[in-house]
Amino acid sequence: MQVFETLIKSRISCRNFSSQELKQEEIKTLIDAATWVPSGSNNQPWHFVVITGQDKLRSYSDAAKTAWLATLEDNPHMHQYEEYIRDPDYNIFYNAPALVIVYGNRESYWHVYDCSMVAYNLHLLAEEKGLGCCWIGFAHNILAEPAVKRGLGVPEQYELVAPVILGHPAQARSSESNPNPRKNFYINWL
Ligand SMILES: Cc1cc2nc3c(=O)[nH]c(=O)nc-3n(C[C@H](O)[C@H](O)[C@H](O)COP(=O)(O)O)c2cc1C
Repeated sequence: MQVFETLIKSRISCRNFSSQELKQEEIKTLIDAATWVPSGSNNQPWHFVVITGQDKLRSYSDAAKTAWLATLEDNPHMHQYEEYIRDPDYNIFYNAPALVIVYGNRESYWHVYDCSMVAYNLHLLAEEKGLGCCWIGFAHNILAEPAVKRGLGVPEQYELVAPVILGHPAQARSSESNPNPRKNFYINWL
């Protein structure tokens, strides 16, 4: 129990990757394990797309940045990131070698919750194996696009839930603990 709590508390989002690739089998093993989550009515409503290769991912990054810039006015939550998006060197996937995209079947009522748990499991499994992982919300605009989904072979009824990058961290951690302190929260004890 102590080991697992330590794992949860030491996980951090990784934004700096080495060029070492991940084998398809390694990614498949992580995805297999990540699907052992509860799901509403046990529907297990997920569909995965895996994109590997930094060049391919760079082109999706460029497309996402262009699309965000064109829609900044409609997306106030992106204003704080404008500087990053305008930076030609900024890659929203941080040169990770692989992206696992979790799509959820919208015909299944709880699909967003179910698929989010799978995405979090990927984070924990990556942490356990010494890999780096990060949910990339900046990719939501393009990966939810019907034309992009069609190109990726995603059935129409599946909607984007979680794009998660995976890879080997570029450098060893300076500390074993997560540097982002948790904010205070309220508990109403009744
Ligand atoms: C829904 C969601 C979207 C996120 N989008 C991004 C993103 O686009 N780019 C990024 O660098 N990190 C992204 N993150 C990672 C968060 O920034 C990170 O989890 C948060 O800063 C806390 O840090 P920690 O994960 O290291 O504890 C996202 C996380 C979540 C859950």
